[in-house]
Amino acid sequence: MFDDKTGADAAFVEFDRVQKSYDGETLVVKDLNLSIRKGEFLTMLGPSGSGKTTCLMMLAGFETATSGEIRLAGRPINNIPPHKRGIGMVFQNYALFPHMTVAENLAFPLEVRGIGKSEREEKVKRALDMVQMGDFAGRRPAQLSGGQQQRIALARALVFEPELVLMDEPLGALDKQLREHMQFEITRLAHELGITTVYVTHDQTEALTMSDNIAVFNDGRIQQLAPPAVLYEEPMNSFVAQFIGENNTLLGTVKEIKGDTCLVQLDHGELIDARPVNVSKPGDRTRVSIRPERVETNKARLQPGAHTLKAQVLEFIYMGDIFRTRLRVAGNDNFIVKTRNAPDQVRLQPGTEIEIGWLPQDCRALDA
Ligand SMILES: Nc1ncnc2c1ncn2[C@@H]1O[C@H](COP(=O)(O)OP(=O)(O)O)[C@@H](O)[C@H]1O
Ligand SMILES: [Mg+2]
Repeated sequence: MFDDKTGADAAFVEFDRVQKSYDGETLVVKDLNLSIRKGEFLTMLGPSGSGKTTCLMMLAGFETATSGEIRLAGRPINNIPPHKRGIGMVFQNYALFPHMTVAENLAFPLEVRGIGKSEREEKVKRALDMVQMGDFAGRRPAQLSGGQQQRIALARALVFEPELVLMDEPLGALDKQLREHMQFEITRLAHELGITTVYVTHDQTEALTMSDNIAVFNDGRIQQLAPPAVLYEEPMNSFVAQFIGENNTLLGTVKEIKGDTCLVQLDHGELIDARPVNVSKPGDRTRVSIRPERVETNKARLQPGAHTLKAQVLEFIYMGDIFRTRLRVAGNDNFIVKTRNAPDQVRLQPGTEIEIGWLPQDCRALDA
């Protein structure tokens, strides 16, 4: 579909210092800079109201940026109307035309673009086959399940072979099983067809499993832009650490920084080892962040001289593949440890006192 081999790594979509205000006062998008490669699957992830849909609407051309520039393949698109941008869109509520059959729904974007009848029929058939809905061409949307309607909406976005597809929470209305199936289908299609995709969701699991890169939004700003594994393993601030995955946090003050390790005195009194990420000097307040699967309950696996903490086991939950244990650590009653259900794994008994620790690089000293 897209045989342009040149500049594969060059920016295809660019937001350059984009700002948006609806009322002329508050900025709901603040100084947004983002660059998306051709063929990339980029997800905008963030809580409700963080500005994701606004960014998508500006890219699609249904909203205008208050300032800054949006470029597609190097050309500013601020003044190009939506239907001339070559962008396919999929929304949560499908937005299919109820009085048209499936085939007519798909033919519509082709008609608008002045494509002749026989070519239309061929493209509609191909798009329906792509989403495995070839047998449903004569049905109306009301005669389809939610999942089937969403497939049709997807086919309609792809039928005119757009270079860019935008999807705004497209799977939000589907049940869990269908959602997971569609997540797989969408990423497969996007990669097979080489389509650049900007996908919006507030669901972190969806973002982690589908994306090449994730832009985490909060309060109109990108907090971090990174591939899923980097985002999960190396969150750059407390917001990202808490928004993505499960996370234990403890408040304290930096005592000492030596290279890539720092010593933090917790408010509860204890000393711990961490990696200085968002702190720069002794005296800085910090929220340290450690993933439940990186907490070590076996002292033998810690580095010599590592600081350890006393912990009291409050609750042990057997979950089959993993054990989930809730501890009291430094005054925090909700400190979670996850351990794999290995043959030699210890099942911690509520009421017992243990010692825990971690590798300093697994515990990140972030902004308080
Ligand atoms: N058409 C609009 N008019 C006025 N305010 C809007 C409009 N659309 C969105 N907003 C406001 O802009 C902010 C960002 O909204 P939105 O982009 O929809 O966020 P998200 O998609 O991340 O939930 C919110 O505070 C929302 O109330
Ligand atoms: Mg939205």
